[in-house]
Amino acid sequence: MKKVVVLGTGGTIAGRAQSVTDEIGYTAGVVPVADLLAGLSLPAGLVAEHEQVAQTDSKDMTLAIWQRLGQRVAHHLARPEVAGMVITHGTDTLEETAWFLHQVLAPTKPVVLTCAMRPATALMPDGPQNLNDALRVAADGRIGGVVVVCAGRLHAAQDVTKVHTWRLDAFGSGDAGPLGVIEAGELRLFRQSVPGRADPGLWARVQGVRALPRVELVFSHADAQGHLVRSLLAAPGGDIPPLRGLVVAGTGNGTVHTALAEALEEAQAQGVVVWRGTRCALGRPVTSGRSGGDWPLAEPSVIKARLSLALALL
Ligand code: SIN
Repeated sequence: MKKVVVLGTGGTIAGRAQSVTDEIGYTAGVVPVADLLAGLSLPAGLVAEHEQVAQTDSKDMTLAIWQRLGQRVAHHLARPEVAGMVITHGTDTLEETAWFLHQVLAPTKPVVLTCAMRPATALMPDGPQNLNDALRVAADGRIGGVVVVCAGRLHAAQDVTKVHTWRLDAFGSGDAGPLGVIEAGELRLFRQSVPGRADPGLWARVQGVRALPRVELVFSHADAQGHLVRSLLAAPGGDIPPLRGLVVAGTGNGTVHTALAEALEEAQAQGVVVWRGTRCALGRPVTSGRSGGDWPLAEPSVIKARLSLALALL
């Protein structure tokens, strides 16, 4: 028997609407993970345990939920009888949670995040198929680390990005492409995921804080100015933490408007760490130097790099 533990965190996969035809006006994060599993018939040789870790719309993801999720993932992965884990999650910040777990836990056993674009109450929900596929990937034995299953495709944590607002196949893996596909319940693997390399003390540090170091994301664009960066630098009031880092989503090859670059240099002179990426959906900046400032590259995406920089500053 292979044991897989399923952790529920909410999302559209656990969403409920008033009518079966309503795919928009639903509430995410309502249906318990136990009910999501109850509708599935597991293949012979697979048993699933479940636990509700959170019940949220993932746009509202917090550090507190990540800390609890990380604790439960670490706890279950340490059990020798557990072959792998599945996490049901909203699509909106799924790539950030995947990146968080990849960065802080770097598991070798499979941790498979899955989701849905239609609520559980829809006429034809996509969640049951995705959950079924995710369970099979978690028990497959050929893949390890943090991965994502959606619409029959398997993505690596470092590559996965939400690329579409409503399509069922809402995720892409950019230039790298998916790790594999799930065909009629069978995983066809194109390549292996690259395992994470967690800093051994990082997870302990993450568990010990109430907030990550403050890192903000700014965009370069036509007619950009430095005002936003300068107001971020102004001494914050109340209990707002001081700015520690900035990730700039540059144009094209990671280039930054001169007016914005000047403000970023002022920020750097005041001790703020600046990283530079691209606002392009595909590709990575390949330039360095004055065309985009001498700032380290923000990879694998500016969204994930914002989290990486906060973790690095910890
Ligand atoms: C969410 O991210 O929790 C809501 C949207 C979705 O899951 O597609």
